[in-house]
Amino acid sequence: MRMRNPKDKDLVINNCDYYYNGFDNTNPIHLEIGMGKGKFILEMALKYPEYNFIGVEKYSSVASVAIKRINEYKPKNLKILITDAINLPEILENKIDTIYLNFSDPWPKERHAKRRLTSQKYLETYDILFKNNAHIIMKTDNDNLFLYSIDSFINHGYKIVKISYDLHSEEIDNIETEYEEKFSKNGIKIKYIDVKKD
Ligand SMILES: C[S@@+](CC[C@H](N)C(=O)[O-])C[C@H]1O[C@@H](n2cnc3c(N)ncnc32)[C@H](O)[C@@H]1O
Repeated sequence: MRMRNPKDKDLVINNCDYYYNGFDNTNPIHLEIGMGKGKFILEMALKYPEYNFIGVEKYSSVASVAIKRINEYKPKNLKILITDAINLPEILENKIDTIYLNFSDPWPKERHAKRRLTSQKYLETYDILFKNNAHIIMKTDNDNLFLYSIDSFINHGYKIVKISYDLHSEEIDNIETEYEEKFSKNGIKIKYIDVKKD
């Protein structure tokens, strides 16, 4: 997601109290890669105080909107990182329990396949982040990205725990993301997959 710099972006970015520098407890850490404006990760943090959460976003313009939202609620169990996911091993090696990939950019052209957040390159990166077993939960509107990701997970040794081609028709605990709200309002079915690897 690219957007114009909000007028107060620099002020918000420079005064943010939520940059990740560890948590003061040993609760499991859940990570969302590509949090966008932060609706999902903030609502997760508020709903599940017994877990820690980190939201990662590569564009500071977008992250500044998330920070403003987080400032309103001041959750103790939520931190953020403004970086590309490829850099996360430097910061989060062996720390993460679950990764969420919500409505990741589909990068439809074959020559851009490596940029997909479920490409082998990114799955190898995530391997370094997990504390014990690897656990990824993905949601998308995009059929092609979904099929590509299922193959990619399986090729990387993941097993499917749960899969749905219409998440909103299922009894699965779900917090909607910004993109999810938009797509489902337009009648697009939300695809969901939960995968694990030892
Ligand atoms: C389509 S938006 C979805 C936002 C949000 N997850 C939602 O569902 O509403 C994808 C977001 O992922 C971010 N993103 C894409 N590739 C990334 C990467 N390699 N590292 C970190 N963030 C990334 C984009 O900047 C964008 O904000």
